[in-house]
Amino acid sequence: MTEVEENFFKSVDLHKDFSEDLNRVKNFKERAIKNNAKVILITSGGTIVPFEKNMVRFLDNFSGGNRGATTAEYFLQKGYYVLFLSRKNSLQPFVKNLMLHETNFFTYLGINENDGGNGRNNNNNNNENEFKNDNDTILSPSLDVIKNHVCIGEDYYYEVSKEYLKWKKFCENGSLERVNFETVGEYLYLLKNISTELSILKSNLIVYAAAAVSDFYIPLDMMAQHKIQSKNQSLTITLDPVPKMIKFLVDNWCPNSYIVTFKLETDQTILNEKCLASLSNYNHQLVIGNLLSDYRNWVIFHQQQSKPIIVKRELTQFQIQQQQKLSPSSSYSLKNDNHDHHHDHHHDHHDHDHQHQQKQPIGVDHPIEYNIGEKLIELHNEFINKNSN
Ligand code: PMT
Repeated sequence: MTEVEENFFKSVDLHKDFSEDLNRVKNFKERAIKNNAKVILITSGGTIVPFEKNMVRFLDNFSGGNRGATTAEYFLQKGYYVLFLSRKNSLQPFVKNLMLHETNFFTYLGINENDGGNGRNNNNNNNENEFKNDNDTILSPSLDVIKNHVCIGEDYYYEVSKEYLKWKKFCENGSLERVNFETVGEYLYLLKNISTELSILKSNLIVYAAAAVSDFYIPLDMMAQHKIQSKNQSLTITLDPVPKMIKFLVDNWCPNSYIVTFKLETDQTILNEKCLASLSNYNHQLVIGNLLSDYRNWVIFHQQQSKPIIVKRELTQFQIQQQQKLSPSSSYSLKNDNHDHHHDHHHDHHDHDHQHQQKQPIGVDHPIEYNIGEKLIELHNEFINKNSN
């Protein structure tokens, strides 16, 4: 470990013992090797920066983990083994497709009106009315009543089953493994240990760093022990810079793998400059640039010694029809589709645009991560071929 790494890891609080997670990573690696699978390590979601050791307050950022989770879905379906390193409670592959603006878990449930004569209706004594009217039964129903009464609602049966069966398949066949982080310290500790563990896969491994990682933190010895008290005064907090760990990732942790980083900016000229600077600083394979205002619709791939490639989101038939129906002067844009999620803090100021469009049916979206994934697999294959000669 270099001095920079050592000092950083000494000055962050790792609340949890991660040895159990790292054991699962080891087993995942062995399964991937046994099955001769290509592997992608996806980082996803934002990191938090605690203000207190007994944390009450923290700094956060906007990332909800949609990009990482959708990319995981694509790669799983293409046969990759996916190590999904994501922020606790951020969006997860497949489950996320049922977490839309206008839905919650209960949306998908219904009452089984026709349970085929099992249990509840067995004795023909009009239990249904009993269930509806009897307060005790509603507040603390027996397991039997629940089993025979609550089910996936008919309108959502197909969608829920489809997402659940995919999730179950990839968990059970061992190609999806998940590890969670919360703070920037935990994220970097896990990134270092997981990428080092997987580095044996060499060119068969992609590291896809989509997480939005804090650039600043409070070292342990500067952090308040208890909740910072408000004394009717302003509060000044000094944050130290987080060391640029991508350098270690590329040079030391997994030097023979295909490394992809992201760059998010709000101005396109700055975006291109930053992507090129990052490529030249770290000397890795790919920087994917995205603009905050439109990051669901297009991204730009910057590679060493190649022209940049713009990757755009493909429109579904439904979306093309919607666009054709709208006048050219309409403010409608694809970024406002109904696949913005609860966790996506940007969605609120775009909501008025929803009034101009019909809802797209659930599950027919073609997210840009599928286009990113398609191009990335092509580049990864070229990288493998070049490095196996
Ligand atoms: O999750 P969503 O809401 O869908 O949003 C996705 C996204 C917009 C967050 C994603 O597409 C994105 O752009 N992520 C990177 C944001 C960024 O600008 O990162 P950065 O400039 O702080 O870091 C550059 C790269 O290094 C990133 O790949 C980052 O994951 C990685 N990094 C940075 C610092 C650090 N200490 N460790 C890192 O791994």
